[in-house]
Amino acid sequence: MADLQTQMKQAVADAAVEQIKNGMVLGLGSGSTAALMIRALGAKLASGELKNIVGVTTSFQGEVLAAELNIPLLSLNAVDRIDLAIDGADEVDPSFQLIKGGGACHVQEKLVAAMADRFVVVVDSTKLVDRLNLDFLLPVEVLPGAWRQVQKTLASMGGSAELRMAQRKAGPVVTDQGNLVLDVKLNGGIDDPASLEKSINNIPGVLENGLFVNLTDEVLVGEISDGVAGVRSLDRRPS
Ligand code: 5RP
Repeated sequence: MADLQTQMKQAVADAAVEQIKNGMVLGLGSGSTAALMIRALGAKLASGELKNIVGVTTSFQGEVLAAELNIPLLSLNAVDRIDLAIDGADEVDPSFQLIKGGGACHVQEKLVAAMADRFVVVVDSTKLVDRLNLDFLLPVEVLPGAWRQVQKTLASMGGSAELRMAQRKAGPVVTDQGNLVLDVKLNGGIDDPASLEKSINNIPGVLENGLFVNLTDEVLVGEISDGVAGVRSLDRRPS
């Protein structure tokens, strides 16, 4: 039996796949919850329950998994629209603003979410927060040659930024685009996600940050009640 957190993730992954209809172009997110969703999609394609699906992945992780499951893929440049994108998140606030990038995939994830007609976020209940960045650091993808300069600029904006280091590889995490990631802590959390998203992206050398503002249409939350995993769709509260 999977642990409780995995059961919650599986429940939301399965609920999200229920929203997929034949013929859709789908944005396939990254991370462990999105991977469960991709596996559930693969199973429905293999059984014939779903047909004529094309996926647009948001990471190398998704590409490898989709290939393993025989899910047809197109690149972002090859599609004009995405019907539905499904992805995980690291933090979700009451007005559906997100921090993403725990897997360093937020550049492609934001491109896909921004193109999608509908963006559904799948999380377990541990990801719900009242205020962003009190616990989870904000990922910022930077050009390798600019990380120290960006770190200094972030410090002048009140953010302490650490270079994300790799595990089982010497040195920093290198993203799918060949860049580095700074993980940023703002004192007291994030007041105004919309304005911070723009200010950080305006720093020379920054590719993208993990604030996803006004992109989310629905949040599906996995919860445990009486020892059983279930799913709740959240109502957005105005910011
Ligand atoms: C990757 C992401 C992931 O969606 C996020 O980190 C959540 O991952 P998980 O479902 O494993 O908790 O943004 O860049």
